[in-house]
Amino acid sequence: MWAGGFPLFFEEASGARLTDVDGKEYVDLCLGDTGAMAGHAPAATVAAVERQVRRGVTAMLPSEDAAVVGRELVRRFGLDAWQFALTATDANRWVLRMARQITGRPKVLVFSYCYHGTVDEAFAVLGDGRPRSRPGNVGPAVDPTETTTVVEFNDVEGLERALGAGDVACVLAEPALTNIGIVLPEPGYHDVLRSLTRDAGTLLVIDETHTFSTGPGGYTRAHELEPDLLTIGKAIGGGVPVAAYGMTADVAERVLSSPDADLEDVGGVGGTLAGNALSLAATRATLGEVLTDDAFARMIELAERHEDAVNQVIESRDVPWHVVRLGARAEYRFAPEPPRTGGEAAAQSDSELDAYVHLYLLNRGVLITPFHNMALMCPATTAADVDSHSEAFAAAVDELIG
Ligand SMILES: Cc1ncc(COP(=O)(O)O)c(C=O)c1O
Repeated sequence: MWAGGFPLFFEEASGARLTDVDGKEYVDLCLGDTGAMAGHAPAATVAAVERQVRRGVTAMLPSEDAAVVGRELVRRFGLDAWQFALTATDANRWVLRMARQITGRPKVLVFSYCYHGTVDEAFAVLGDGRPRSRPGNVGPAVDPTETTTVVEFNDVEGLERALGAGDVACVLAEPALTNIGIVLPEPGYHDVLRSLTRDAGTLLVIDETHTFSTGPGGYTRAHELEPDLLTIGKAIGGGVPVAAYGMTADVAERVLSSPDADLEDVGGVGGTLAGNALSLAATRATLGEVLTDDAFARMIELAERHEDAVNQVIESRDVPWHVVRLGARAEYRFAPEPPRTGGEAAAQSDSELDAYVHLYLLNRGVLITPFHNMALMCPATTAADVDSHSEAFAAAVDELIG
């Protein structure tokens, strides 16, 4: 999806810098679309991985690191019990199964234009006010409108109506949409989402895979959300495949007391390499020594610097664009106002301008996420890195408007 028609090939990367096979160095604000939010090859993670790879990678037994990481996830996000997966996609898929199992209800509710990985149930959007399969959905096993209820983010009435049917096992939600630009919740929206789901007997699953950028305990901790289940992947292992899903003690108990659910073998949750010792060693080091509370404070400051610079360019050139920040990540879009819903955000998309800006930046040594205009800070990002983007972005706008 990189602009320009020629894929760049990756040679090596360290901290916030990436070098391609032609020896060109880039300031990396894409950071593997969050997978490298800890920076590339962070020393503590590399050392832990090197150590563990010599001691055995996977064994069908938990390592001590699993307990340490579990405690750290409890400290950060507040949910009581944790299990591991290799991708956020799988964490989400398994959580949806558990939610259906313990509620006995068939449906999942998602927000239009959400993205939660390659999760079948999440490939539904609203079109003309009705759920439909998302354009481009590849070979769906069933029409997702059979499995899924869709509402717009921030639409309280739509949510109330949808939950009122009484058939929704869980809401699967990013606390702010991050995969169609950034769509922030309106004030009070999360309180309503929580109380309506509780009233309806519907579980609330918060997917923190991208919104982890908000702070050390994600959006959930920063805004005191109270989900029943929480999923997270990508960044927590410093780039090594790992994901986690947490649940309240009540949910854990309900899951474990399902006598007819095979939670350990071939029941449709879990996987052979899930919770492997290598992933857990990487996660222990990354959370313990790299993506620390202090690192988040610095990353968020740099994202503010980036946001201010982008705003300054937008205002001084009087272009009808906006930028939205969520902790250590920010994204600009080519429309005057931040969208309220995924539908509004989708309608604002401008693929020509996206391609222009991406290629302009790429040619000047700056990477942002190819299918977004997202910039993410890692612990190794510097103010000078942010300024490289600001200068190239200002020049791109100047050339565009002549
Ligand atoms: C919010 C969210 N959840 C889950 C995923 C899936 O992550 P993965 O592709 O690592 O399975 C993504 C991927 O972009 C995501 O943005």
